[in-house]
Amino acid sequence: MKTRPEEFVYSGHFLPLSREELAAQVEAQMSAKRFKHVLGVEEAAIQLADIYGVSKEAASIAALCHDYAKERPDQEMKELIVAEQLEEDLLDYGSSIWHGPCAAEIVKKEFHLLDEDILNAIRYHTIGRSQMSLLEQVIYVADFIEPGRNFPGVEEARTLAGKNLQEAVTYETQQTLMHLIKTKKKIYPKAVATFNKWVANK
Ligand SMILES: [Fe+2]
Ligand SMILES: [Fe+2]
Repeated sequence: MKTRPEEFVYSGHFLPLSREELAAQVEAQMSAKRFKHVLGVEEAAIQLADIYGVSKEAASIAALCHDYAKERPDQEMKELIVAEQLEEDLLDYGSSIWHGPCAAEIVKKEFHLLDEDILNAIRYHTIGRSQMSLLEQVIYVADFIEPGRNFPGVEEARTLAGKNLQEAVTYETQQTLMHLIKTKKKIYPKAVATFNKWVANK
């Protein structure tokens, strides 16, 4: 039987907070619309974790935290990138790229979340990377297919996600890059590296 996210009980292994406490902290950081998205990502992530043998607790935590920094002011994220000595080329891009690495740094400090796999899943949820753990893949895909998403191709992505996680990562990476090209958006070089590994290198 499926576990509903709100019934999910954390062991305390990763975080000194209950799921309810974490969800409340996350909710306070964002609009109601974004929080609904976050809960959708959590639901999708727990389902994928269940299918692919990943810790559901880790999936729930990473999903709840993945957009934690998304509504922080740009200036605050820029200062964090400098202060934490994150990759300097990040500064040439925008908040759609920054909010992943920034969220990882913020939750590490605010929640004493130290599990590197969870932090990486948060860090790389938008751009992916050439080597992704199963948890990273789960969050990357869950963000794309959560129940609130509605764009051409999302049904195919959902079907793929249920059958083969790697194929879903490949599909999503290709769709994302095609969208960036079509809309003439700047592409972060690490997203190209993700494309080269997951799409072109098959
Ligand atoms: Fe995000
Ligand atoms: Fe998201």
